[in-house]
Amino acid sequence: MAEPVLEVAGVTAGYVPDLPILRDVSMRAAAAAVTVIIGPNGAGKSTLIKAIAGLVPVSAGQIRHEGTAITHIRPDQMAQHGMAYVPQTDNIFRSLTVQQNLDLALRRAGPEATARLDRLHTRFPALADKRAARAGALSGGQRQMLAVAMALATAPRTILMDEPSAGLSPRAAQEVLEMARGLTESGVSILLVEQNVSQALRLADHCYILAEGRNQLDGPAADLLGDSVVAEIYLGGKRLRVGA
Ligand SMILES: Nc1ncnc2c1ncn2[C@@H]1O[C@H](COP(=O)(O)OP(=O)(O)OP(=O)(O)O)[C@@H](O)[C@H]1O
Ligand SMILES: [Mg+2]
Repeated sequence: MAEPVLEVAGVTAGYVPDLPILRDVSMRAAAAAVTVIIGPNGAGKSTLIKAIAGLVPVSAGQIRHEGTAITHIRPDQMAQHGMAYVPQTDNIFRSLTVQQNLDLALRRAGPEATARLDRLHTRFPALADKRAARAGALSGGQRQMLAVAMALATAPRTILMDEPSAGLSPRAAQEVLEMARGLTESGVSILLVEQNVSQALRLADHCYILAEGRNQLDGPAADLLGDSVVAEIYLGGKRLRVGA
């Protein structure tokens, strides 16, 4: 890999001192690519994303973004490092309107706020149509689009997304994942946690598998899609051929 945009090197991290959830985890995300993290429930996928975002203390190892050490950043410093985080749950304000959610996300955008809002409305026409609606009244897919739009409001170069397709219909899930893929075309790098393993592997460039807080396996997503062991464990026992 060329110089990765995001690098996690030997990270040990957890919520409580002396009780590590992640142990010696390493991963690299390439620029303008989709890097996906999969693994069973409780494997530490969200914890890894939160450690990168400064929400879980890191007790060993290093995290670098664009060559800068961000191991111990505060969550509110993410935007100034060109990063944004879309949490797994509670990622929008349901009682506020779509517009109010976007205004909150744009509050530090200064004079660029209007132009950014226009771009977000162009990218997400459904959000433009529903700007006056309460965010809680949106469909599941639209809520995830709003959460991603709020992340994009800070003009990040790297976005961390934690299971953006969870709870969505297969079609809405596909739309959200394709939207994530589309962002890489404008140079954004995506680190994505996904439970829709086969969809994620078809769309991602590189995949890391975590299990019990440790690296289990990684490789080009297309290779993992064709791997019989991965198919057995994560794809319901059906061996999938790339392009099938
Ligand atoms: N706030 C917390 N405080 C203490 N332990 C936590 C906290 N959040 C998660 N954990 C523990 O950390 C471990 C990893 O959880 P994590 O949420 O990272 O898993 P995950 O891979 O994202 O799972 P899922 O697929 O269910 O989202 C689990 O044992 C979980 O119980
Ligand atoms: Mg999780």
